[in-house]
Amino acid sequence: MKFFVDTGDFDEIKKLNETGLVDGVTTNPSLIKQSGKDFIPLIKDICKIVDGPVSAEVAATDYETMIKEGRKLSKIADNIAVKVPLTPAGLRVCKELSDDGIMVNVTLCFSANQALLAAKAGATFISPFIGRLDDIGLNGMDLIGDIAQIYDNYGFDTQILAASIRSPSHVLLCAKIGADVATMPPKTIWQLYNHPLTDKGLDAFVKDWAATGQSIL
Ligand code: G3P
Repeated sequence: MKFFVDTGDFDEIKKLNETGLVDGVTTNPSLIKQSGKDFIPLIKDICKIVDGPVSAEVAATDYETMIKEGRKLSKIADNIAVKVPLTPAGLRVCKELSDDGIMVNVTLCFSANQALLAAKAGATFISPFIGRLDDIGLNGMDLIGDIAQIYDNYGFDTQILAASIRSPSHVLLCAKIGADVATMPPKTIWQLYNHPLTDKGLDAFVKDWAATGQSIL
């Protein structure tokens, strides 16, 4: 499973990129607002340090403006994935950009039928929002399972990019179901490393090694 980091915080992206385990980045208008940075220069800087796909979202909602924005964003770097909303106009833009070989991430997906439409429109990634479904009392993970089954039935290439992930248990369930990608806030990625028995065990090893008086170097 690929790991994308879901943030507009450049320093966090840089830190996580150094782990060698980050396969891409996703942003959205809310994350850009949170970063306080100018959108285009920020995306340019992220694309310089991250090799994998970097999702940059259009701001308009009408076809004419979205297609112009999408084309402009796609020229920032080869690894840009243009992010469009799951609306009739958004999927029209998706189809056109995908036909031109541009990566497209279709966002704000809340149903399996929407995911089916996105795959038919040639999306590179579909972003089902798990946490926001859980927030309203539905089961976000069921949606991931349904999409996986449908894409499998018809051999769609569209990758399931599980989004709105809020906890390590979301990541575990996504991995068990077989989501292609999980995009996570930095905090959740760092949480994946943690286990109290790792800390306890390491503490004992460090103490015992020091007691031997030896040195490897
Ligand atoms: O990038 C889209 C998604 O991951 C947002 O997550 O926590 O705002 O629902 P959240």
